[in-house]
Amino acid sequence: MKITTRVAATALTGVVALALTACGADGSAGNDTAGGDGNGQTSAGSTMRLALNQTEEHPSYVALANFGERLSEATEGRWQIDVFPNETLGAQQEALQLVSDGTVDLAIVSGTQLENLNSDFLVFNLPQVFDSVEHQMGVIHDQEIVGDLYTSLEDGSSITVLGGFTQGARSIYTNFGPVQTPADLAGKKLRVQESDLHIAMAEAMGASATPMAFGELYTGLQAGVVDAAENNEVSFFTQKHFEVAPYWSSTNHLVGLDYLVINSDLASSMSPEDRAVFDAEWTATHEEHTELWTTATEDAITQAEAGGATFTEVDEAAFREVLAPLADQFIENEVQRALYDAARTAAE
Ligand code: GCU
Repeated sequence: MKITTRVAATALTGVVALALTACGADGSAGNDTAGGDGNGQTSAGSTMRLALNQTEEHPSYVALANFGERLSEATEGRWQIDVFPNETLGAQQEALQLVSDGTVDLAIVSGTQLENLNSDFLVFNLPQVFDSVEHQMGVIHDQEIVGDLYTSLEDGSSITVLGGFTQGARSIYTNFGPVQTPADLAGKKLRVQESDLHIAMAEAMGASATPMAFGELYTGLQAGVVDAAENNEVSFFTQKHFEVAPYWSSTNHLVGLDYLVINSDLASSMSPEDRAVFDAEWTATHEEHTELWTTATEDAITQAEAGGATFTEVDEAAFREVLAPLADQFIENEVQRALYDAARTAAE
């Protein structure tokens, strides 16, 4: 199976159309002030809609809601952010399309989604590119390392990448028992994000890969459409996946990455002063998110255990070994190689 995403105007699904005509979370009527028109005009401000696929208790929601408050205060109400959690504006693939066509202003999307638009992004989705959250955050917010990557979608898709949030270390959880080594995944269906790299990752770990949107996973596990999934402890708990797949095995096979993306025309419509405030508050936001992450992970483990989940240490080296060849299999151009080498150099 080959995953491709086309960013094009699409018919809005009922749920998205409804959410877009609904009032914003603060009771405002949404984009009351016009955003950018792409012709270089400066916008006086806007209530920006931000699409998120996490719950309100997730650190990403908390940090983004705080971002909105600080931004509004610092711009005297000119720029506001309404965060729509729980895929209300659509799953990530759809949210990305909506940001591209300007219907939605901002979204948090996993790196796997951007890989489908520009394969250079896949470098940061490789299982062994980042050693830790700190390493990852340092690399992805280092302009010298990322170079033109974050502006590479502007011409074709009107999407600007602003930086990101960690997804922490991802591990495997199942509805059939702990997995100690890749051999325990033989014949099992493992849900992955919609990415060719992550399909190959699941297969390298011995499983049969099933790409699926995040919001479909609870019922997918419950109905046995898939036997297993891989994610961080925070999503395992906040999405209640532990109720239907309670066996967590600490493979720690990947430090995952989410990006904040904005419609490029809207971003360039901000006055230079407002853009500087926006950028400074966004930096404070991803720093806050990184701080929240450790505690959120500990809390998620405690609460999932209280709900019946089990956490098992595994032979991490056995998983590392089968995943090591993926970098050479997937890196196929000089830009990708340079990104990979720079990321690895930053780890040393
Ligand atoms: C994490 C990540 C999400 C992503 C999800 C997934 O929760 O933060 O952005 O969508 O994993 O596995 O789909």
